[in-house]
Parts: sequence; C-alpha cells; structure tokens
Amino acid sequence: MTEFPQKRLRRLRRNETMRKLVRETVLNVNDLVYPLFVIHGNDIKNEIASMPGTYQFSVDKLAGEIEEITELDIPAVILFGIPETKDETGSSGYASDGVVQKAIKAIKQMNPEIMVISDVCLCEYTSHGHCGVVKDGDVDNDATLELLAKMAVSHAEAGADIVAPSDMMDGRVKVIRIALDEAGFEYIPILSYAAKYASAFYGPFRDAAESAPQFGDRRSYQMDPPNVREAMREIKADISEGADMVMVKPALAYLDVIRKARDTFNHPLVAYNVSGEYSMVKAAAHQGWVDEQRVVMEILTSIKRAGADIIITYHAKEAARSLSCA
Ligand code: PBG
Repeated sequence: MTEFPQKRLRRLRRNETMRKLVRETVLNVNDLVYPLFVIHGNDIKNEIASMPGTYQFSVDKLAGEIEEITELDIPAVILFGIPETKDETGSSGYASDGVVQKAIKAIKQMNPEIMVISDVCLCEYTSHGHCGVVKDGDVDNDATLELLAKMAVSHAEAGADIVAPSDMMDGRVKVIRIALDEAGFEYIPILSYAAKYASAFYGPFRDAAESAPQFGDRRSYQMDPPNVREAMREIKADISEGADMVMVKPALAYLDVIRKARDTFNHPLVAYNVSGEYSMVKAAAHQGWVDEQRVVMEILTSIKRAGADIIITYHAKEAARSLSCA
C-alpha cells in the first residue's frame, strides 16, 4: 500500500479547499513591515525612478500614506531619512529635529498603534555615504559606535518603538543597549541587521535614500555573500550583545541563510526583501513577463517558508491587498 498506484500525492491537491487544508505556510498581514523614505522639505512626494510605486515623502505628506497602511492593517513601518545637510559625521542623523525624528513623532500622532521601526545607520547622513566615521579611507568601527548610540536614543526619544541598527559595526548592539537603558528606554527592543551582506541588490535603495558611498564600497563592514557560517557567528554575537530580534538581508538570494538562522536560533527572525528584489519584479511585470500579484505572493511566502517570522518588503501594501481578498 505504500507505492503507486495506491499512493497518489495528487489526491491532496484536487481543489483549493483541500489545498488550503494541507497548506504548510500561510502568509499573514501581521508578518509585514513597510519601508518609508522621508525627505526634508514640504509638499514632496517623489516617485523613485528605479522603484516604481515607492516614494520619498516629506513629513507633511505622510498622512495619506499612514491612512492607507492603517486601512490595510499593516502593523509596522521602517523609516529611512533623506536629510537636508550631510557632513563627515552624519550629525543630522542624531539631531532631535532630524527628518526621521520628526517623521516618527508625526506618525505616532497619526496612529499610535503602528509600530515605528527606525533604521539606525549613518550612511544617509554622511557626506561620504559610508555607514560610519571614515579614518584613513576606511570606516572606523569604535569611533562610530557612540554616534550610533546617540542616533538610537534620539529615535527612542522621538517615539520609535523598535530601533534597527543596519551599519554592521562590531559591538554596536551592546553599545546601543547600554545607551538606551541609561536613557530610560529599557523596553525599546533592538532589531539588529545581524547578517547583512554587501549586496548588489541594494542599488535602487541607494537612489531612494541618496546614500551611495562616494568612494569605495561597503565590503569592509558588510558580509561577504558566499559566507553562511559567518552569518551564524554574526547573529550569535548580536544576540549575546542584547539583540531582541535578528535580521538576514537580502532575502531571496539568501534563503539558505534564513533557514539556517531559523534552525540555529530561537529569536524572532526578520528578512529584508530589499530594493533590488522589488525592482526586478516591477520591471518584469511592467514588461508583461510575469504576473506581478502571483509572483509577489510566491516570493513572500517562500521567504516565510525559509523560516522568516517577519518580512520587510516594498510589496507590503500590494500583498496586504491580496491577502484581504484571498
Ligand atoms: C543602510 C541601509 C541600506 C539598506 C537598508 N539600510 C543600504 C545599504 O546598506 O547600502 C538597503 C535596503 C534595500 O536595498 O532595500 N545602511
């Protein structure tokens, strides 16, 4: 009775009700985080050329977007800032009236229920576009840490619910945890971009956040794409320094890293479905080469199947729409 013709795997695929009954992975709107780019100035809603459907918003233009996110029941957003001025140390990134700090306050006023995650990294605020302080042509790890801590505290003061360091400096989770605790933010969790690779898939994001490095690249601090065991060491280090949640980024070319992280650690695991992954889908859909809605749902479900609990994705609104009529 264990071989064909008695055994027929197609029995459980005969109709949608049967398929739903045996479905192993189900994407939920609660799994999704939507990234928002906030830019200094007023009355701005700029579509990002390489990311159709994604915009830079000035703070005064965020209301409509937040309303839509609320209606779609998307539980969280992650914020990136495009400041008016950049300098060597990225000081507009930790100014109390910085663009992200203003956006956090505005969003929490519009809807206090939305989880506001803030990206903690200097690259959008430094004149050279690197993720920390540059000395002798390279990012100085230890000199960067206190600035990241300042930035995390300033986001928490503005009302951020979760801070997410994405710089890949060694020791930053520990320094940020200590600084948050000292400032009275013991209950603000840290989501660390723990296994963040030096990826070509970030290209469109750097247009969106105007954060491309002005010289060199990020390979001396972000991870080398061929490595997976090293990713486990990064995640382990961040957890031991106090990370409450950990991230693997990008997602699609790194599903094996997500799976291994899920099997190795018990912390909530986040995957970032990054800008280049989004743009490829948009470009192919625009050409009529793929069915966008189906491809998006398949991609997000596969990231969850690989082991992610939470997915940061520019497709969040479209996915939420598909899920609400499924
Ligand atoms: C900041 C940061 C980057 C992304 C998220 N945070 C860019 C980078 O490291 O160059 C990329 C997100 C995306 O591509 O969607 N360091």
